Amino acid sequence: MTMHNSNIVYFAGAEGAPQLGFDLRDYPDLSLQEFKSPLGRMDAATTALAREHGVLLFRAQGNTERDAQAVAAIRRSLGPEAIILALTDASTSLAEARMLNEAGVNEVLPDTIGTEALVAQIYRHSGQNTAAAAPAAKPAAQGKIITVAPARGGVGATTLAMNLANSLLDRRGFRTRKARNKVVIVDLDLQFGTVASGLDVDPRDGFYAMASDGTLPDDTFLAQSLIDLPSGLSVFSAPSRMIPLDAIRPEQITSLLTALRAHYDYVVVDLPRTLVGWVSAVLSDTDKLLLVTDSSVPSVRQARRLLDLYEEDNLALPVEIVVSGESKPMLPGANHKEAARLLGRPLAHWLPHDPKAARNAIDRGMPLEEAARGSALRKKISAIAAAMHAEFENKSANKDKR
Ligand SMILES: Nc1ncnc2c1ncn2[C@@H]1O[C@H](COP(=O)(O)OP(=O)(O)O)[C@@H](O)[C@H]1O
Ligand SMILES: [Mg+2]
Repeated sequence: MTMHNSNIVYFAGAEGAPQLGFDLRDYPDLSLQEFKSPLGRMDAATTALAREHGVLLFRAQGNTERDAQAVAAIRRSLGPEAIILALTDASTSLAEARMLNEAGVNEVLPDTIGTEALVAQIYRHSGQNTAAAAPAAKPAAQGKIITVAPARGGVGATTLAMNLANSLLDRRGFRTRKARNKVVIVDLDLQFGTVASGLDVDPRDGFYAMASDGTLPDDTFLAQSLIDLPSGLSVFSAPSRMIPLDAIRPEQITSLLTALRAHYDYVVVDLPRTLVGWVSAVLSDTDKLLLVTDSSVPSVRQARRLLDLYEEDNLALPVEIVVSGESKPMLPGANHKEAARLLGRPLAHWLPHDPKAARNAIDRGMPLEEAARGSALRKKISAIAAAMHAEFENKSANKDKR
C-alpha cells in the first residue's frame, strides 16, 4: 500500500457529531473525507473508497459490541493491509478497547488526539518510512527509541540510561550549554523506578493515570505528565504510587512511545527486569536495545534467556551488548569469548566499575557529566551516545517543536 495521496475515510457516527480538529495542511499527501454515518452503515461504495485509500477512521458509538461486529465485517472485506483506527472518548473502558482491537482495529485512539500523533499512527501502521512515503509532506517526526535493559538487578542499566539520555542532549556552548537534541527518558521500571530520584525531581503520576483510566496518552496528557529539567532533558517518571505491572496495556505503551517520538529526537527507555506483556510493545518500536550484563556466567546466561524471549516476538531486534563493571581488556579473556559466543554478538560496549562516580551522581541528583566530569564511566557513556548519534544521524525535523 502506498501512502501517496491517501484519503482518510472517516465515519463520524451521526449528524452533529463533534468536528475533528485535524489540520492536514502540513501533509499535502493526506486528506480526509468525512461521512456523518456510523461505521455500521458502510455501504459498498464507501467500502470501496476505504479499500482504495487504505485508512479508515471511525468514532466509536458507545455500543462497543455493535462497533466490534461492524469492524470485524469490514476487516474481512478490506483485508489485513487496511488501517482501521477507532476514536473513543474517555468513557471507553479497557475491556471495550480490547474488544475493538480483537475485532480488527489497529489502534484505539483518544478522540482528543492531535493531528501529528494521528498521522504518526497512520504511517506507523502503513509500515512505511514517512520520509520515503511522503516526500512532499513534512515527515511526521520520528525520534529514535533507545531501550536499556538489565540482565540482572543492580547491573547498572538505569545508570546507563540516565547518563546516556543526558549525553544525547549534546549540550554545546560555553555558557549557554544549549541542548542540540530533544531527549526524553521514560522510566518503565514502574514499581521500582529510580530515574526521578536519581535526577532529583518529584515523580509525576502519568503511569498511575494510565493504569487507572486506561488513557491512551495524547499531547495534553504528555504535557501534564512530563517533567522538564533545566538541562533540557524531559522525564516520564515511574509513579510514586505502586501499580500492578500489568495494569498498563501494550497499546498504551505503544501510543505513549508514538507520541513521544513525534516530539523528541531520542526516547530513552529504562526497562525493568521483569517480563510483562507490554515489554514486547516497547521492543517492537525499539531502534536500538542496549542489553546490560556483567561478564559472569550467571549474568550472561540470564542475558541469553532474555534475548531469547525478546526475540521471540521481535526477530530483527537490533541489540548491542553492554558489559558493565569492567573496562575493555586489551585481550579478551576466555570468559569474554564465551559470553560473546553465547550471546551471538560482540561485546560492544564496556562500562568500567566506578562506584565513586556512580554514587556521587546519584547522591547529588546529577548526571555524571556534572557530578563526575572526568570519570572514565562518564566518558564511556558519552562514547556510546556519540556512537548512537552517528548511527542515527538524527538531523530530525523536530528541533523547532515543543
Ligand atoms: N559502572 C558502575 N560502577 C559502579 N557502580 C555502579 C555502576 N553503575 C551503577 N552502579 C551502582 O550500582 C547500583 C545499581 O545501579 P542501577 O543503575 O540502578 O542498576 P540497574 O538499573 O541495572 O538495577 C547503584 O547504586 C549505582 O550507583
Ligand atoms: Mg534499573
